[in-house]
Amino acid sequence: MSKKVLVLPGDGIGPEIVAQAVRVLDLVNTQFNLGITHESALVGGSAYDETGSPLPEATLTKAKAADAILLGAVGGPKWDGLDMAVRPEKGLLGLRSNLELFSNLRPAILYPQLADASSLKPEIVAGLDILIVRELTGGIYFGQPRGIRTLENGERQGFNTYVYSESEIRRIGRSAFEAARQRGKRVCSIDKSNVLEVTVLWKEVMEEVAKEYPDVELTHMLVDNAAMQLVRAPKQFDVMVTGNMFGDILSDAAAMLTGSIGMLPSASLNAEGRGMYEPCHGSAPDIAGQGIANPLATILSVAMMLRYSLDAKEAANAIEAAVSRVLDQGLRTADIASQDSQTVTTQAMGDAVLAALEAVLKA
Ligand code: IPM
Ligand code: MG
Repeated sequence: MSKKVLVLPGDGIGPEIVAQAVRVLDLVNTQFNLGITHESALVGGSAYDETGSPLPEATLTKAKAADAILLGAVGGPKWDGLDMAVRPEKGLLGLRSNLELFSNLRPAILYPQLADASSLKPEIVAGLDILIVRELTGGIYFGQPRGIRTLENGERQGFNTYVYSESEIRRIGRSAFEAARQRGKRVCSIDKSNVLEVTVLWKEVMEEVAKEYPDVELTHMLVDNAAMQLVRAPKQFDVMVTGNMFGDILSDAAAMLTGSIGMLPSASLNAEGRGMYEPCHGSAPDIAGQGIANPLATILSVAMMLRYSLDAKEAANAIEAAVSRVLDQGLRTADIASQDSQTVTTQAMGDAVLAALEAVLKA
């Protein structure tokens, strides 16, 4: 049976990096006979420019019908002045909420070859392998009411609502515990329960979920301390589970531990395991169109997509092995370049991954 992938290049460097990732997808599709078909659609600022909406109806319909979605990135200064309701980011948030992609898996793995690209000392980050499980369809990102209002005295006031229901906390908790079972069997739940009631409930529900997983250890940490611990001693963590906004912030910090946010893939899954896969980095408008962006996070997102949504673990492993080989060869895009590496373009990095993939498959 054929499997449908929807490709959403988006804005900024999105189209450049996605083009390389699609070449990789096409190669494994042929080699492993996966029966994958793919088509593209518009999202983000480029969709707004063409249709007046960052998430056109046609895109949403295709997204709902797809087995998996590969997304580049959205946003850029060109659209900064737009009304909140039609900003490029709304396209991404709309996909997440319409498809109920509540579970966002953001691994932060340090490739040994890149230890010197990290801003931390090698001994602090060597062997780093943590997974941030971020709730993606609730919390302050989606809570109502929200807006900017004018008070009686004429002063404007901005407001958002931080809200989580038990069921939302429980399902993301289960995602985290399930993931922990496949790896170090430790979950650290991140909250701000010394100040915010919603995270008092978060902590309580996590304790309840933990009872279903006696083989997994649960600890709790306040978010400010977690931010500090991530840069002080990041290897103490296995799986971190947290809400939407804390997860947004902590995952960027975790990403940088690995040397470059340009290396990190992510998966956003619904209850059935259907998902959207995207690099953790943004649209990098400052380097868009220059052909120098790092396509590896998007290529690694293809690997995650094959593993989690398309039942093609071997193809996923082959892609990850190919990326590792390319790093062994000393090839680096500018963001991860070091003194003795060879700096290559986006396209050349794609070429190198394809060649390494051929070699891996022959081996
Ligand atoms: C992310 C991004 C998005 C978020 C933006 C682009 C809306 O920062 O995926 O981490 O805040 O979730
Ligand atoms: Mg972010």
